[in-house]
Amino acid sequence: MNDIIIAIDGYSSCGKSTFAKAISERLGYTFIDTGAMYRAATLYAMRHNMVSADGSVKREELTAALPLISIRLGRDAQSGESKVFLNGEDVTEEIRLAGVSGSVSRVSELAAVREHLVAQQQAMGQGKAIVMDGRDIGTVVFPSAELKIFMTASPEVRAQRRYRELRAKGVKTSLCEVESNIRQRDAIDENRTVGPLRKADDAVLLDNSHMSVDEQMEWVMKLITSTRP
Ligand code: DC
Repeated sequence: MNDIIIAIDGYSSCGKSTFAKAISERLGYTFIDTGAMYRAATLYAMRHNMVSADGSVKREELTAALPLISIRLGRDAQSGESKVFLNGEDVTEEIRLAGVSGSVSRVSELAAVREHLVAQQQAMGQGKAIVMDGRDIGTVVFPSAELKIFMTASPEVRAQRRYRELRAKGVKTSLCEVESNIRQRDAIDENRTVGPLRKADDAVLLDNSHMSVDEQMEWVMKLITSTRP
């Protein structure tokens, strides 16, 4: 069977990355979490004082600094865990902290940032055999991807899942705060001018509000078998 590009887009906290990673492992494909790339760029901007206290981003400064931002996605040789490197430093944990989560939407709204990262993502997919997840993969990064999946789940279900994850990590928060953050991110993702979150016309919809991980895998493997030439 020929190798293909699998593009997975959808709302935040839908389990996109977990799903994309599981598919990549099943197929022996490379998994690319583009959200991690936007998060790493955001961390760079925060560390260089390009994000103000009110959340606004110093657009010109960040645009000028883009050539200095090198993001690499790799795997830990021993554990097999996915790792994110920013200019050679392992930032896998740091990009998941609340500060980055709170600012990433504003950084990913910037056209220059998107152009820069989209070009890198397109280069990563040249050899196909990838599963890439994000917001604009099926619409902007790989409009010709052989398989496009658009994931969604109700905001309440997503907030519950995210809340449980954060609590398990020892983060103190409330369900209400998590749900409000999710709704806010949805609005920014859907309404930005460049690369807004939307389902590509030829994407297959997956609402996993009431599906287990095993059910989703069974569903997608059937789809892949019928898609691969
Ligand atoms: O998937 P995630 O929640 O880790 O993504 C973090 C942020 O990055 C999210 O607010 C939307 C943004 N993002 C984007 O704009 N385009 C992508 N392809 C991936 C993520």
